[in-house]
Amino acid sequence: MAIAIALFVIVIGSIVFHLVTPWWLTPLASNWKQMDDTLTITLLITGFFFVVINLFVVYTLWRFRHRAGSQRAAYEPENKRLERWLIGITTVGIVGLLAPGLAVYADYVRPPGDALVLEVVGQQWQWRFRFPGASGKLGGSDARFVSGTNPLGLDPADPAEQDDVVIVDNEVHLPLGRPVNVLMRSHDVLHDFFVPQFRARMNIVPGQVSSFWFTPTEPGRYESMCAQLCGVGHANMRGFVVLEEQAAFDAWLAKQPTFAMMLAAAAPAPQSDGPAARGRALAQSKGCVACHTVDGSAGVGPTWKGLFGKTETLKDGSTARVDEAFVRNFIRDPQGRGAKGVKGFPPVMPKIEMSDEELDALLAYIQSQR
Ligand code: CUA
Repeated sequence: MAIAIALFVIVIGSIVFHLVTPWWLTPLASNWKQMDDTLTITLLITGFFFVVINLFVVYTLWRFRHRAGSQRAAYEPENKRLERWLIGITTVGIVGLLAPGLAVYADYVRPPGDALVLEVVGQQWQWRFRFPGASGKLGGSDARFVSGTNPLGLDPADPAEQDDVVIVDNEVHLPLGRPVNVLMRSHDVLHDFFVPQFRARMNIVPGQVSSFWFTPTEPGRYESMCAQLCGVGHANMRGFVVLEEQAAFDAWLAKQPTFAMMLAAAAPAPQSDGPAARGRALAQSKGCVACHTVDGSAGVGPTWKGLFGKTETLKDGSTARVDEAFVRNFIRDPQGRGAKGVKGFPPVMPKIEMSDEELDALLAYIQSQR
């Protein structure tokens, strides 16, 4: 009897919890209400079977409970009628679970012809974006073109590339009411671009372009995140998507550099740019900026502003003055025995491959942040 009462309490408790839970979906900001509807159908079907099966068990436990001498079980291994019913109901339930998802997914990966193209590039641990320029066509890209001044690996020789608009920042803007075809690339490992309010996400497999589309409907600034565990900085792989009116979007887009402008800005030869400027580009392309700010605010790691010359308390309680040798050693072998991280920060600094020349440039840049 105890188990019957426990099951009954679990059924009632589950229904009540569902009705009063504070964990509802975030407000929808895209056209994908179908995603929510599909989830609701799944919840109703699984919830219905959960309640019916558990209450049936409660009923049989109570109805056929042990009473001395009064009840005997009858063994009936083959009941064709009952089996037909069970198979029929289960089939309807499974079809109900799968079919709506198939229909929505088929829609989800077939963008309308007039969609605005947005490229999303994931890299440990940051997001970058690109729009096709006036030509309406994205130029080619390849990992072998990646450099400090070309973090997206765009093909400098491709004529369609020159007018592409490159967003070397974790925030991108989009106009309301127009479908967006999102094309995604990864530079290293599996990532997943996800904005909960859009009900849209997709894995990004290195070496291929994956895609989905959506139409922004509600103005606002929404956080995008990475939904595949991609290394120690995964939780910090965040960005923002701002949805705004077409005019505001046009004004924002006009201020962003084209690939040709980026190349021209980088052209006066890295040497004459000075090591600090090269270090700045490296901090972007190597992903340092995902964890280290230069404005004094705390990130996953210590800010670079005023870092040099600071005396920091280390994990083992000792103190050390942050100088070139300290930073150099730490970057070269962040998890090594000799490396003692700064107290208050998680030990998540990855080992990043860098030439001596690149490390010099990066140090010059960090040193210039006073
Ligand atoms: Cu990228 Cu998690």
